[in-house]
Amino acid sequence: MTERDETGAGANIGRVRVRHRGRLTSGQARALTELHPRYVVEWAAVVAAGFPATAFGRDGPLAVEVGFGNGNALVAFAKAHPNWNCVGVDVYQPGFGALMLACEREEVANVRIVNAEATTFLHSLAPGAVRLINVFFPDPWPKKRHRKRRLVNAEFASAAVACLQPGGRLALATDCPEYAASMQETLAATARLSGGPALRSESRPVTPFEAKATAAGRAVAELAYRRVG
Ligand SMILES: C[S@@+](CC[C@H](N)C(=O)[O-])C[C@H]1O[C@@H](n2cnc3c(N)ncnc32)[C@H](O)[C@@H]1O
Repeated sequence: MTERDETGAGANIGRVRVRHRGRLTSGQARALTELHPRYVVEWAAVVAAGFPATAFGRDGPLAVEVGFGNGNALVAFAKAHPNWNCVGVDVYQPGFGALMLACEREEVANVRIVNAEATTFLHSLAPGAVRLINVFFPDPWPKKRHRKRRLVNAEFASAAVACLQPGGRLALATDCPEYAASMQETLAATARLSGGPALRSESRPVTPFEAKATAAGRAVAELAYRRVG
């Protein structure tokens, strides 16, 4: 799904080149051009002092959705939490257009997009900067030989816990039972994280990948963790 470039240093570290999957609709193409400066934060600004307040023009609790896809869950969260600053991180540019159009249409001003590999992004944040990280239906990579490509691994977990504030939450959902078990094993082994299987948050809209899973009769596993200490 993503490719690391030569600057990558270690598993999951490094910016990724965006690979376009599918065609952009004309609306998405317009969004990418016109709305880009309003919503997309360039990497130089992400790693500069003052981020994320500089990107939002204010301080506020920070929510990060990793791999937001078309952004429907991120828009719903941002609308329900207008005083929060909400960052979506992904490498799938057609989804940026869909999210920017939704923000424009629904007058959502508290969303910003970062085009980056998720673990790299989390590593770039100040310790304790984040109150909530959502990871909904990360690519399951079900084949054994591809599992090393999975996002939720020990490095992701330690980057997440480092940028979460004490009491901050990490929520995950997947329709791949083996990935759910691997996530639980990884997160149970991560210092300062506590949690496990959870109920589905009723406020989360059905995401496109969740809809596919449900239509195919696959059960969804929900996991919720909290940073302790
Ligand atoms: C299976 S899709 C799920 C999208 C959405 N959350 C949903 O439930 O419909 C996984 C998403 O994660 C993104 N993604 C995959 N690996 C990533 C990475 N290392 N960093 C950031 N985003 C990533 C993909 O581009 C894609 O948008």
